[in-house]
Amino acid sequence: MKIIVTGGAGFIGSHLSRKLIEEKHDLLIIDSFHPYYSPERKKMQLSFVREIGSFRFAQKDLLLDEEDLQEVFHEFKGDCVVHLAAIPGVSHSLSAPHEYVDYDIKATINTLRMAGESGVSKFVFASSSSVYGNTDHKPSREEDATGSVVSPYAAAKYSAESFCKAYASIYGMELTILRFFTVYGPWGRPDMAIYSFIKKLMNGQELPIFGLENTRDYTYIDDIVDGTYKAIGSDESGTFNLGNGSPISMDRLISELKRHFPSLNLNVTDRRLGDVTSTCADFSKANEVLGYSPMVSFEEGIRRTVQWMREHEEIVL
Ligand SMILES: NC(=O)c1ccc[n+]([C@@H]2O[C@H](COP(=O)([O-])OP(=O)(O)OC[C@H]3O[C@@H](n4cnc5c(N)ncnc54)[C@H](O)[C@@H]3O)[C@@H](O)[C@H]2O)c1
Repeated sequence: MKIIVTGGAGFIGSHLSRKLIEEKHDLLIIDSFHPYYSPERKKMQLSFVREIGSFRFAQKDLLLDEEDLQEVFHEFKGDCVVHLAAIPGVSHSLSAPHEYVDYDIKATINTLRMAGESGVSKFVFASSSSVYGNTDHKPSREEDATGSVVSPYAAAKYSAESFCKAYASIYGMELTILRFFTVYGPWGRPDMAIYSFIKKLMNGQELPIFGLENTRDYTYIDDIVDGTYKAIGSDESGTFNLGNGSPISMDRLISELKRHFPSLNLNVTDRRLGDVTSTCADFSKANEVLGYSPMVSFEEGIRRTVQWMREHEEIVL
C-alpha cells in the first residue's frame, strides 16, 4: 500500500512509520519539524525510522506549504493518509489557542483537500481522548463525545473531526478517526507527564504533581501502533477509541515510579486548568471491529520506558 504519514517525525508517527516499513509498505513522511519541542529531537526520531529501511520524506508544513505539497501528493499517488501532524498538548493550548486553530484545524483541512484531490481513498485521523471532556459516563464510548470539551486543544480536535467527516463525504474517502488515550513509551514526547517525570527523577529533582485525584488511561506506544496499523488495513471505517481501558491514578503512577526511583519526592499543587479529571477508554468497538487488544500492562510499559530513558541519557538529559 502507498501510505502518507503526516507528522511522521513525531513520537507516534516515528513508531508507526517503522512498523509500516517493516510491513513493506511504500511510505512518504511529511513533517515540518515544528518547534513545539526540539526539532533536533524530531530529526533523531526520523533517524530511528531510517534504521528500519528507506522511505520518502518531505520537510514541508501542511499549513504554509500547500502549493508545494499539492505536487508532492499528486506525484506520490497515495492510497491512504494517516494524519498525525498537529500541535499536541492541553497546557500549551491555553496560552496559544490560535496556534491550534492553525495547526490542528486549518492544516487538517489542507491535508484533507490534498488527499481528496490526489485520489487518496482512505483517511485516518489522529484525534484524542480529550474530546470527551469531563463527561460523567466512564469508560468513554465513542458516542459520548458531544462537543462539551474543556480545553482549546480538545475543541480543535473535535472541530477537526468534523472537517474530516465533511471532506470524506465531499471526496468519497473512507474515514477512520482514532481517539488516542495518553500515549507513553520510548521516544515519548518530552512535554508529557510520564516522560518529564522520569527525566526529573533521573536528574534527582522532585515531581510537580497537579492534583492527586486525576486518573489517566495511559496507553503504551506499541499498542497504539498496533491499533493504528489494524485500522489502516481494515475494510471497516468509523470512529474508534484506542486506549488501555484501565485508568491509572496519580498514586499508582507514583508507586510504579518508586520501584525504579525509590527516593522520589513530590511537590503537590492544584489541578491545572483545561486538564480533564479522568480518562478511560471503552475500546470494545475497536476490539470487535478492528481486533484491537492492548497487550502491554502499565507496570511493563513503565519498566520499558524507564529502561529506554536510562539507556539514552544523551538524548533525554
Ligand atoms: N501522544 C499522545 O498521548 C496523544 C494523545 C492523543 C492524541 N494525540 C495526537 O496524535 C498525533 C501525534 O502526536 P505525537 O504525540 O506523536 O506528537 P508529536 O508532536 O511528537 O508529533 C507531531 C508531529 O507533527 C509535526 N507537525 C506539526 N504540525 C505540522 C505541519 N503543519 N506540517 C507538517 N508537520 C507538522 C511535528 O513536527 C511533529 O513531528 C497528534 O495529532 C496528537 O494530537 C497524541
